[in-house]
Amino acid sequence: MVSLPRPIELDGLDPIPSTLAIPLIGRAEARRAFPSLGFEDAAAEAIAARLVYEGAPTMRGHRAAVHGSIVRTQIVDEAARAFLSAHPGCTVLTLGAGLCTRRARLGAAAASGSRWIDVDLPAVAALRRGVFPEAVLVTGDLAAAGFVDRVLGALPPEQPCLVIAEGVLMFLDPAGADRVFEALHARLPAGSAIVFDRTHPAVVRTRRLVAAVYPSIRVTGATYHSGIARIDDLPLRWPRFRVRAADLYSRRYTGFMRFANRLLSALLGGNTFYDVALLEVT
Ligand SMILES: C[S@@+](CC[C@H](N)C(=O)[O-])C[C@H]1O[C@@H](n2cnc3c(N)ncnc32)[C@H](O)[C@@H]1O
Repeated sequence: MVSLPRPIELDGLDPIPSTLAIPLIGRAEARRAFPSLGFEDAAAEAIAARLVYEGAPTMRGHRAAVHGSIVRTQIVDEAARAFLSAHPGCTVLTLGAGLCTRRARLGAAAASGSRWIDVDLPAVAALRRGVFPEAVLVTGDLAAAGFVDRVLGALPPEQPCLVIAEGVLMFLDPAGADRVFEALHARLPAGSAIVFDRTHPAVVRTRRLVAAVYPSIRVTGATYHSGIARIDDLPLRWPRFRVRAADLYSRRYTGFMRFANRLLSALLGGNTFYDVALLEVT
């Protein structure tokens, strides 16, 4: 349940935590900006209306970011609905939860005995606690040695878990991102799944250009720190992972973006510059 006692102050947040506003505002704008996507999120609208944040007008006006956030959210929602229906009573662990409203949005599908746990940095966890007083929150740095391992160690050992990492892994340094996958590989029970988005390392290397063409990122002052070139390489390092899908986002491109994606993929050795992937844990 959402509780909105007072304004939600984002202006004092550090650059990376403040990126939580990008998808939040995207979801809140969906009904007005892209009605044809058929997505609406009353909780995000209510939260976004309370934001005190200088970057908000830029994010609202950045149609590509709004559109991208909605499409990504729809993909992750579909993965979550499918997992919840196949595994009632599962755990849903959201890494870098920000002010994500998925649990409220999925309604009955999320209420079927599932257990939701959210992880984020302390400043964001404090905000999240104010908005979702009933949420189970774990506070800490995903990139820190042993942290994700400890979070997973506290979960029921037999129960399949859906791990969601939406808009977060690119903000970890390469060693930190590796530690997250290492812990997920070591700890998740068979039958678990991981849905996450990735940027290609070439995008990380051209982060100044990304900020220039992507005003939503620029206003936060955050930059990407790590990327994954090929999803199919993950099981080579972590053999319990099986790739269910590597292109859930790019397969939805239409028109010019489909063409641009093909062109860029050819330059990137057949890999997309950005995508959403789904891994199964065997
Ligand atoms: C772009 S936001 C996405 C928020 C949320 N997943 C959503 O879709 O609404 C990125 C989130 O990841 C969190 N994050 C980034 N680096 C983190 C780290 N090292 N440890 C924990 N959380 C982190 C940020 O604080 C922020 O809330």
